[in-house]
Amino acid sequence: MSEDAYPDTATAELFARYVAPNYGRFAIDAARGEGCVLWDEEGRRYLDFGGGVAVNSLGHAHPAQVRALGRAAEKMVHCSNLYRPREQALLAAALAERVVGFPGKCFFCNSGAEANEALIKLARRFGEVAPRANGEPRREIVTFTGSFHGRTTGGMAATAQAKIKAGFGPLMPGFKHLPFNDVAALRAGVGEDTVGVLLEPVQGEGGIHVADLEFLGCAADLAREHDLLLMFDEIQCGLGRCGEVNGWQAVGDARGIVPDAISWAKGLGGGFPIGATWFKDRPAGDGRLCDLLGPGSHGSTYGGSPLASTVGLAVVETILDEGLPGRARELGERIVAAAEGWGSRLVREVRGRGLMLGFVLDPEAVAACDGFAESGRTPALFVIDALHKGGLLTVPAGTDVVRWLPPLTVSDAEVAEALERMEVVLAALTGGGA
Ligand SMILES: Cc1ncc(COP(=O)(O)O)c(C=O)c1O
Repeated sequence: MSEDAYPDTATAELFARYVAPNYGRFAIDAARGEGCVLWDEEGRRYLDFGGGVAVNSLGHAHPAQVRALGRAAEKMVHCSNLYRPREQALLAAALAERVVGFPGKCFFCNSGAEANEALIKLARRFGEVAPRANGEPRREIVTFTGSFHGRTTGGMAATAQAKIKAGFGPLMPGFKHLPFNDVAALRAGVGEDTVGVLLEPVQGEGGIHVADLEFLGCAADLAREHDLLLMFDEIQCGLGRCGEVNGWQAVGDARGIVPDAISWAKGLGGGFPIGATWFKDRPAGDGRLCDLLGPGSHGSTYGGSPLASTVGLAVVETILDEGLPGRARELGERIVAAAEGWGSRLVREVRGRGLMLGFVLDPEAVAACDGFAESGRTPALFVIDALHKGGLLTVPAGTDVVRWLPPLTVSDAEVAEALERMEVVLAALTGGGA
């Protein structure tokens, strides 16, 4: 272990001096994690139901992940994409065969935003090989209000939230934003220049909004009718989190929908940075969609390294072999039922699927709580601060939603403990009553 160069300086002070202030951070100096528990530097124990914002799919220090990290690190951490590390192909095979269940190929990168960049580049290429009637390339990608697709320039342009884009113009052209879950607007919004539709089957950052089955079906129908790419951002909602292997399958009986392309990150590495984009094996111009990004068209130095791929495969296999999607579904239903039983006036509804849940707060009821006015916080941050004091970590989505995104490995006892802690905190905020 290297010596701590600043033994007498608090972590908060080091952050203030040396770390860019681009995140709104809570005053928690996270030190160590195990399973669903996180300890801070003072040794305070928290139940981690934020799960690193849907990243820690297996919790902290899961043996399968730790073993994979050690094994891969000893063998070969990195190998250029000029060569063929077998681990990368094995992860691609698992994603195509076991996750999507449809022939296709994967590109690997290191984050969600990058995985979406690959979707955007795929759509741009597709627009060239499948152009408009007049031969001009199709360029427009439709995305939806409340979406979040990342912080890169492409991701920001794709994201239909003004607060994400503000102050960073000029933004990349080629995106049209339509209202989420509005079938008529979607039908009317697809035009000659449209080349693809990109959506989160369950929106995360936008406040946990589940796509209607009819809306998903409409997007799939339009994609077929107009030869558009149907692209699902499964970065937060995919890989078991929503109670099915794939997020779109958790929306309802998704009528055999298989998108043309998918992006994953977050839970894929369980905390190790990895992103992936899957391209369906289907016609595209004179070739196949899965081969459209040919040699030299796209890349990422670290993408799909042996280390990242080994860890990703261990995580995916653990999720599937241990039936964690089904467990997420069962626990999600239990949590929603329990929360409805609280009858707290602070919570309007609990929405989401599986272990991707949003407690939608009543802003006026929160505003009436002691201490709210002086806090200067949004309703979500005010409640989350109180939950932190009660030993439960959760994360906000927008101003009014408290998200639960615990590890898929969370135990029955931990779920019961988190429910109890939240119930107690909400009751205390309302002066002991519901
Ligand atoms: C749905 C969705 N897409 C994309 C991203 C961006 O991922 P990353 O932060 O890894 O770039 C996120 C992150 O929250 C996300 O939730």
